[in-house]
Amino acid sequence: MRQILLAGVMLSIVGCGGMAITPTAPSDGAPQDGELAFPFDYKSFPTFLHGIQKPNAVRDLYINQRGAETQKGAAFANGSILVMEIHNAKKNTDDTYVKGHDGNLVKDGLAKIFVMQKGERWGNNAPEGLKNGDWMYSAFKPNGDRLDIGYEKCRSCHIPLGESKDYVHRYDEYFMKRVHSY
Ligand code: HEC
Repeated sequence: MRQILLAGVMLSIVGCGGMAITPTAPSDGAPQDGELAFPFDYKSFPTFLHGIQKPNAVRDLYINQRGAETQKGAAFANGSILVMEIHNAKKNTDDTYVKGHDGNLVKDGLAKIFVMQKGERWGNNAPEGLKNGDWMYSAFKPNGDRLDIGYEKCRSCHIPLGESKDYVHRYDEYFMKRVHSY
């Protein structure tokens, strides 16, 4: 993808003869689902929400600095990245889940990492009828390798949140719990 982006930029530079580059066509260099770069530094991102309890997993969510500057009630700015770590939950020998002192599930290895990222007019690359604003989706193994996943599933499950929550499931909870305001 990086090469494609680079090629797109180089073509624009050649085409514009050194003039300022303003993105026009949405598909020029904009990623498709599954093509986002793995945000290797996401562990240093501000916390979105941590320790979300699922029936068989624990999820930790991060947001990059650009996204964290978003004001409550607004949509996330282009350049925002949301990252969700999905951890397996530890089991007892009888197949029930181990509970910690706080009654919560105990993490037992990072299974996969889901990413949503936004860019100007990226949504025009979305499949017909599944546009989630300008968000694009990608799923990775913990080492950053891509997972082979049907991205329509991500879109269909996030689309009901609608524009008012910017297609982000934990939108309300994040702004309610956020400690810093920018
Ligand atoms: C069946 C519904 C469903 C599907 C399919 C789904 N998600 Fe989500 N997603 C959620 C829910 C619910 C949350 C909130 C955290 C939680 O409760 O697990 C969430 C949260 C997220 C977040 C954190 C921001 C937010 O919305 O709160 C990211 C990033 C994310 N999902 C990416 C993806 C990607 C990438 C895919 C596809 C590979 C995907 N999701 C598929 C339901 C879904």
